[in-house]
Amino acid sequence: MTKPAIIKLLAAQAAEECAALYGAAYRVKRREVGAVVRLRGLVEVSNACSKNCLYCGIRSGNTNVARYRLSREEIFELADTAQKFRYGSIVLQAGEHQDAAWVDFIEDVVRGVKARSNNALGVTLSLGEQTRETYRRWFAAGAHRYLLRIETSSPKLYAALHPGNHSWHGRAACLDVLAAEGWQVGTGVMCGLPGQTLEDLANDILFFREKNVDMIGMGPWLPHSETPLGREHGKNFDAAEALRLGLNMIAATRLALRDVNIAATTALQALAPDGRERGLLAGANVIMPNLTPTVRRAGYLLYDNKPGTDENAEATRAKLEAAIRGIGETIGYDDWGDSPHFAARQVIE
Ligand code: 5AD
Ligand code: SF4
Repeated sequence: MTKPAIIKLLAAQAAEECAALYGAAYRVKRREVGAVVRLRGLVEVSNACSKNCLYCGIRSGNTNVARYRLSREEIFELADTAQKFRYGSIVLQAGEHQDAAWVDFIEDVVRGVKARSNNALGVTLSLGEQTRETYRRWFAAGAHRYLLRIETSSPKLYAALHPGNHSWHGRAACLDVLAAEGWQVGTGVMCGLPGQTLEDLANDILFFREKNVDMIGMGPWLPHSETPLGREHGKNFDAAEALRLGLNMIAATRLALRDVNIAATTALQALAPDGRERGLLAGANVIMPNLTPTVRRAGYLLYDNKPGTDENAEATRAKLEAAIRGIGETIGYDDWGDSPHFAARQVIE
């Protein structure tokens, strides 16, 4: 698929045009990865972050956030819940830290989760940029998938959205290191960012293809009132437009990459109550139901109006299962749900 062809898909606007795009992407999804939703229980381990991205509600510069870190035991309990719910795998996500104590902590937690589940639970990490050595240690501890969003494939747009000490090239290099170290690699972007064009988004999809990634997590940018980007551009935010673009990105990515795992993210659900189901119908096949204890959820607000902050893991699960049944799909219980693209990559390489 060429760049002009991708731009054309992303530009779909009229209802019939969008329906045709999502229908085509859905057919490819069924053929390549099946109409089976893969679940990963999401554990928001800590909202402390050393970075200061201009769009993010838990950026280090936001002093209005009470910072927390879950204990090892709390995380183990959530992992047990994931197993009880038959989710098959968990994602440990947090703001970014590189200090030795943090690296040790995560290594220990990953080992613990793997041991107490008898290796039944798959562990995905989403913990930002790290050294090769750290990625190696966490992989050796038993984690096997890593999510690191590039946020945008345009170094220029990246520079406009981050402080000067954040490096696009450093982040992109991490994706190469992760692949070389044997991880299943996920990346992704935000769409609808101020200053972003359809060509930028088409380049994002080409970037995913060029990096040969296995998983994609992306979603619309949503304003957070206590961030520079939210303050400056929040007023002009158009939720319907953001949702349409988010769904178009999922569909175009499915058509271009075919056998990868694509997440229907919480950001879609923030824009419409059925946003995630619409993501599944536009080509996504992964959902990350939140396991974070209810009392902590309000602390992990990347954007305003994040859904589900007042409910517990049981309620999150019940709603989700009903929604998935409602669109006629099934759930891949007790399964790591690895990306078929990763398996294909092992054969070819
Ligand atoms: N809107 C949407 N997504 C956001 N993220 C951070 N802030 C926002 C926001 N305001 C996303 C980034 C990051 C991921 C953890 O959450 O893409 O990689
Ligand atoms: Fe930290 Fe990630 Fe938020 Fe950036 S987007 S401030 S790295 S949590």
